[in-house]
Amino acid sequence: MTDDRTTHWDNRYAGAEPQSLSWFEAAPALSLRLIGQAAGPEASVIDMGGGASRMPDALLEAGYKDITVLDLSAEALALSRAQLGERAAAVDWQVADVTHWQPARRYDLWHDRAVFHFLTDAGDRAAYARALNSALAPGGTAIIMSFADDGPERCSGLPVQRYAPEDLVEEIDRLLPGLFEVKETGRFAHMTPGGAEQRFQYTVFQKRAGTG
Ligand SMILES: C[S@@+](CC[C@H](N)C(=O)[O-])C[C@H]1O[C@@H](n2cnc3c(N)ncnc32)[C@H](O)[C@@H]1O
Repeated sequence: MTDDRTTHWDNRYAGAEPQSLSWFEAAPALSLRLIGQAAGPEASVIDMGGGASRMPDALLEAGYKDITVLDLSAEALALSRAQLGERAAAVDWQVADVTHWQPARRYDLWHDRAVFHFLTDAGDRAAYARALNSALAPGGTAIIMSFADDGPERCSGLPVQRYAPEDLVEEIDRLLPGLFEVKETGRFAHMTPGGAEQRFQYTVFQKRAGTG
């Protein structure tokens, strides 16, 4: 239901102040740490479902030069571009639904904060996995952050699939058997602008060298 999804997210972002959205994070410190541990500024990075986050700004500040932000909401990307001003020209912006996206190239690093957990349909998760496999270079790293098993049951009015780190590892291995080595897992709490705590997990996967 790509069209319904797109409408939902466009409505969510249209006219919104990014800092008022429940998933707003002033500085993506954990993401930057995990990205920096995996790959230096010469790496190509895709922020999957990047929305209007501060991630492209933070990556540019950290010296990354090959940055792609993909989101199904053109409204989200318009907000993200506006936040960057002239520096937006340094980023590749792609409006697409990950479950239908056919990547035209490969990336060293895939970052997903709070996107995979919206895929409550098994077919959509399989499509996400196909996109992940074709977009990620062998040896590359995928960082997936989702609501944890003790996190909220909904986000932005939509149901989510929650994961303990080991559940996410199991699901990704079921979808892409043997493709990844797990480098790190952990949990963290996100404080929404309204002061609510949301429990997340993160997992860092490295695609094995020599895979397709
Ligand atoms: C909770 S927000 C998180 C945004 C951003 N990653 C962050 O941390 O601020 C989820 C984002 O995923 C995007 N999204 C949801 N489903 C998607 C899909 N199937 N393909 C691409 N983007 C999607 C939404 O438009 C939204 O921007």
